[in-house]
Amino acid sequence: MVNITTYITGGIAAYKAAIVVRNLEKMGHKVRVVMTENAKKFVTSQTFAALTKYPVLDDLWLKSNEAEIPHVHLAKWTELAIVVPASADFIAKMANGIANDAASTTILATSAPKIVIPAMNDNMWENPATKRNISLLMKDGVKVMPPVTGMLAEGYSAKGRMPDPEEIVKYVHDFLQNRQNLVNKKIVITAGGTIEAIDPVRYIGNNSSGKMGIALARAAADAGADVSLIYGNISVELPEDNNIHKIQVTSSEDMLEKVQEEFKSADALIMAAAVADWRMKEVADHKLKKQANQNELQLTLVKTPDILKAVSTQKKDNKIIIGFAAETNNLLENANRKLEEKGADYIVANDVSKDVFGNDEDQVTILQKNAKNQVWPRMSKQKIAQKIIDLLSNQL
Ligand code: C5P
Repeated sequence: MVNITTYITGGIAAYKAAIVVRNLEKMGHKVRVVMTENAKKFVTSQTFAALTKYPVLDDLWLKSNEAEIPHVHLAKWTELAIVVPASADFIAKMANGIANDAASTTILATSAPKIVIPAMNDNMWENPATKRNISLLMKDGVKVMPPVTGMLAEGYSAKGRMPDPEEIVKYVHDFLQNRQNLVNKKIVITAGGTIEAIDPVRYIGNNSSGKMGIALARAAADAGADVSLIYGNISVELPEDNNIHKIQVTSSEDMLEKVQEEFKSADALIMAAAVADWRMKEVADHKLKKQANQNELQLTLVKTPDILKAVSTQKKDNKIIIGFAAETNNLLENANRKLEEKGADYIVANDVSKDVFGNDEDQVTILQKNAKNQVWPRMSKQKIAQKIIDLLSNQL
């Protein structure tokens, strides 16, 4: 059972939080409550103190024991933080790291996973500022349970209504279940592009942002796995998570070495990195100079090691290997060939001819030997990562 801190912020849906708290306690979790001043305009702190048999944290400057720092203590105690309901204001504070009251300060000090359950007026929910803040939270790995369409306190039906307490409790339960799925499993994940030097200042690189690999690392860590994230050149922020061990590499040769080392003690490998296919036969030891009247330059390239193939052919036991196939044409034909040639258990095929690099969304097809292809609809890379990790959990 889990230590859950429930944050209640200002909104009419605050009264429903009492049922959420009660049901979480019934499931055996330990629950503590933090409230904002505005939340207390809708429902009293006594309600929650009585339900949890514990004082509600609503003030950073308690006089009872000035030597103790209650919000830091609570942040450390927390194994899961849920914000129910989450007002537009609190979402904005969380997304931007603003800490100016007991609730926003305590949640900023919390490193545990967080679930945010927004409830607000439809125009507030649709406002670009709210959308931006929600997207920032999701990028930070915060889970957002989206509001539903239904009767709002304003008296009309629209999107912005908080889901019913029973659905919230189920969502929290499923989240916690999923967290257990990969406990005691080690997953190696590669992300980003490799860099193959031409000379001391130039290199051969590619457009990979590392988003997919990093989303996979986050999802695997959320499922409780011990993750080795081997990353090359990336253009997104690295995750801060105690379950994610980050290993930086440059070239395909470096990546091969680290993957082989980490895979020895791992249960699965996901090769989401865009590994260069070619490298310089000889890397120049000085900057290549253009000569007067020179219109062409010929570089001699040789093949890089195929990491996926090397690891698959050496693999023993029931370890799972997942590769990616990024193609601009003949997607399934090429992906099928890769499944065969590279010896992977799964290939995630994606068509990169359309707006995929650096984008938050993607559409993929999952190929598996002797099984029907699974065509997944277009969705966020975060969601795809989650589904790939679910698939892996089932196999492991
Ligand atoms: O580049 P290609 O389309 O062959 O990549 C397919 C899969 O193989 C990807 O999962 C990629 O990470 C992996 N790969 C590799 N070593 C290479 C090239 C690709 O492991 N040298």
